[in-house]
Formats: sequence, C-alpha cells, structure tokens
Amino acid sequence: MHFSLKLINWYNLHQRDFPWRKTKNPYFIWLSEIILQQTRTFQGLPYYLAFIKKYPTVFDLAKADETNILKIWQGLGYYSRARNLHFSAKFIVHELKGKFPANYTELLQLKGVGDYTASAIASICYDEKTAVVDGNVYRVLARYFGIETIINSTKGVKEFKLLAQELLPKSNFGLYNQAIMDFGAIVCTPKKPKCDVCIFKDSCVALQKNKVLKLPIKITTLKIKKRYFNYLILIDKANKIILNKRTGKDIWQNLYEFPLLETKIEIDKNRILKKAIYQKLISKKNVTNLQLFNEKIIIHKLSHQHIYTKFWIVNLDVNLVKSIPFNEIENYPVSTLVHNFSNIFKNFY
Ligand code: ADE
Repeated sequence: MHFSLKLINWYNLHQRDFPWRKTKNPYFIWLSEIILQQTRTFQGLPYYLAFIKKYPTVFDLAKADETNILKIWQGLGYYSRARNLHFSAKFIVHELKGKFPANYTELLQLKGVGDYTASAIASICYDEKTAVVDGNVYRVLARYFGIETIINSTKGVKEFKLLAQELLPKSNFGLYNQAIMDFGAIVCTPKKPKCDVCIFKDSCVALQKNKVLKLPIKITTLKIKKRYFNYLILIDKANKIILNKRTGKDIWQNLYEFPLLETKIEIDKNRILKKAIYQKLISKKNVTNLQLFNEKIIIHKLSHQHIYTKFWIVNLDVNLVKSIPFNEIENYPVSTLVHNFSNIFKNFY
C-alpha cells in the first residue's frame, strides 16, 4: 500500500483528539499552528483554549491590547509569536477588510507565517495540495527513506519539501498532513521510537540499516550565550515596587520586569553599589538595605542563551513615583524567570 494511504489508515485509528481538529475556521487553525510551534501539544492546549475564549474572532484579537495578549501567552516562550499574531490580526482587519487570506500564497503575507504554517492552514482549511514539513515530518521521512541530507541546510529544506509534496495523497491533504505529524509525535519519536509496533517496520530504510537514532541529521552551530542579569527589587517606603516594560530588540520584548542591571560578568554587592546605572537609579543615601535574595545564582535557560540571574532586594526610605504593590505583578505579562521569582518572593514580602 502507498505510504500516504498507510499513514491515513493509521491516523484514522490513532489520531489524537484536539479541539482544533473539530474546526476548519482558518482563524482557529492559525492560532493553533502558531501556538504549537516550538511547543508540545499538551502544553499548548490550555493556551489555545484561553485564546479562543478571550478572542473568539480575528476582530477581537485585532482590537485587543498587546499587554493582555502577552499575559495570556505568558509561560509559552518565543513571545514574538504573540506579537506577530496581534500584528497580523490588525493587518487582516484593517488591510484585508477582515477577510482571512484564502490560500497558501496569501497566507505567506502574514507576519510570522512561513512555509510550514501556510501549508498547514491551506491544507486543513482550504484542502490545498501543499505539504507541511515540520520537525516530525523531517524525522519520519529521513528515517523511512534513509535520507542523510542535513535537514537544516538549503539543500535539505528543498529536498524534503519536494519529497513531502510528492508523497501527498490524491485528496484529504489536511488530514494526511496531520497524520504524518501525529505519527512523528506518537510512533516515530526522536528518542524512543516504537519501531516494534510501527506500520513501516518492514520497509523503513533506517530500521533496516540500524540508523534510526542517527536520523535525521541536523547541524547545530549554535553557541549558547551567557548573560548576567541583576534584578533590583526596589521596595519604597510605601512597600511598593517598580516594574518596567522591556523595550528594544531583545528577548522578552514588551514584557515587564524589575529594574535591570545587565553585566558582562557575575558581580557582587560592592560592584552593584559602584555601578553607575545603580547610582543613577537610586541616589545612594536613600538605600536603607541592599541584600541578595538568591544565594545561589539562578540559571534561566533559553534556546540560545543562559541567563545567570541575581535578585537584589533594595529597601528605600523614600516613595517612588509609579511604584505598584507587589501583588499587582500578576496583572502584567512577565517572563517565566520573573514569574518564578515573584511566586517565591511574595511569601517573604
Ligand atoms: N503539530 C503542530 N500542528 C499540528 C497538527 N495540526 N497536527 C499534529 N501535530 C501538530
């Protein structure tokens, strides 16, 4: 039996039950596909439900406040996805008169939508014959066909897209695309694939050549950058704190955080006191106490950087302008790093 038909048969028996599989509304599918990028389905599910509840249409999302969108997104990471969703919702409403892009090429106009997302939406919602190639698809195809081309090279991207496109069945493109992704997520998994129960165990090249765990081949030239964050929890006379919005093209753009002193190396209390920014932030004479909260440095790991973090508690004997009660942090979108600290610190505060 043909590869795609075998997969569809498997999918009809084993597919996972998700709410986004009960709709062809392109707005919902778009949300689900953006949420599921770099996110496991079980982790993405509550975010998807929260999103469609709060923003049931693209018009609701377009007129939403970015801070509220980021708040719902809090904890999912890769926050540019949320900012792009908002940007694109506004684009659809204002530039496309509310008409959702209706094919692969039009979908590519949306910020944050690339070949994968455009293919997923077009095939699922419009039954367009375009193959999705995500991490699952690379893995299934590389193993089944024994392909050793580096998947994240220009050649690899082209080769796999072409092959995926050739393998599409005669109809049911959206169904097939989801079948191959589910198969990669359930059977042909990265670390412990279930080859003994696999429907392709008699024809899989990688299994025959004992190369299952070697494929697919990906090059990682990624160098992890170390950063040193010193967060200053400025507690004023009224027991209130300062929260700033992050601006600039960096991680966590538009999320909120405590005043930050970033340094090239780890620093101690003496160096903090000497730092020009610190002195500018708070005139020294008003500080009644400066104390490191976490004795052990916290290492917050992101995909491209490790953030070595110290939280400094700074008590002041003045009232600050624009300070807020500590528990109001809950109303602001913050990084998981700041959220985790706040959760602990609120018990000491
Ligand atoms: N991962 C991302 N989108 C998916 C989908 N529609 N089906 C299965 N896995 C996915």
